[in-house]
Amino acid sequence: MKKTLFFALAIIVVASLVISCGPPAKQKIGLSFSDFATERWPRERDNMSKILKDAGYDVLVQEANHDAKLQNDQIKNMVTQGAKVIIAIAEDGDSLATSVDEVAKKGVKVIAYDRLIKSPNIAAYISFDNTDVGRNQAKGVVAVKDSGNFVLLGGSPTDNNAHLVRSGQMEVLQPLIDAGKVKIVADQWVENWDPANAKKLMENILTATKGKFDAVVASNDGTALGALEAMKVKGLAGKVPISGQDATEAGCNSIARGELSVTVFKDDRLLTPMACEMAIKLAKKEAIPGLTNFKLADLTLNTSKSGEVPCKFLQVVQVTKANVKTVVVDSGYQSYEGVYKDVPNAPAK
Ligand code: BGC
Repeated sequence: MKKTLFFALAIIVVASLVISCGPPAKQKIGLSFSDFATERWPRERDNMSKILKDAGYDVLVQEANHDAKLQNDQIKNMVTQGAKVIIAIAEDGDSLATSVDEVAKKGVKVIAYDRLIKSPNIAAYISFDNTDVGRNQAKGVVAVKDSGNFVLLGGSPTDNNAHLVRSGQMEVLQPLIDAGKVKIVADQWVENWDPANAKKLMENILTATKGKFDAVVASNDGTALGALEAMKVKGLAGKVPISGQDATEAGCNSIARGELSVTVFKDDRLLTPMACEMAIKLAKKEAIPGLTNFKLADLTLNTSKSGEVPCKFLQVVQVTKANVKTVVVDSGYQSYEGVYKDVPNAPAK
């Protein structure tokens, strides 16, 4: 009996020694998403997870379902679970600064991915040139119709990008407004960038204006397609130009069918590996090369914000019916079948 006990104990001791001498625990990197409703986010989650796992990291993923408070809790929770680096897509750039400031004090590095987190304590902010997104949207619409009654549909008001995009749109529209050529007859922001909200807003705009508008500057494909659903009922789809953003499969298909006039292609296949490379460098406590400091006041269009953050911005490409095949399909970003689904006279593959 005593012998059996001795052997059992010996086995436990040896086993625990083996466990404690085993491979070192993997470092953890957190991914914090505002939502998975827009086409791009699940793709970027999958791509980031793969790159980081292949590089030997444990990946924690959280989605806040458009709940800013929940996203703050999730960030803190990932840190409790041991994450030392977090890549975050903020639901609300103001609100998320709360948890980011708190975890930064513990040495945790947060990369603001695509959307700014309004804190000088972020390790980096990497995105596309969002002002240029807005310029390209307005230019695309104005190329079809450069005068008359215009409708503005902004993105989610809590997303800093929505405001940068709007400033780019206004760079193009303001001179036309000043010249008396363009009149803004409706100006709305689409909460959560939700297509269903955009559809409802457009229904109200159609009622309020009696459908008397000539162009719509919308801020992404999802909201533009929501608005187009309402416009279709009144026979305005394909007649009134409208802009989008993201070169989504449905957006590009709408372009090919002649309903959406313009989208803006932002190649997340470049942004994702860049973010992962930075996260890995931060995990190894290495410096990140190639960043430029920008003032928070400039990034937020708000002079009361102080401090600077290291940034990098990628270029964007305007996409219309004329170049959707070469830019989006031939580069492999969207499939030919998806973009030209139910499109008569599609160009050859
Ligand atoms: C992104 C867009 C996206 C939108 C809605 C913005 O911050 O830059 O690409 O369409 O959020 O998710």
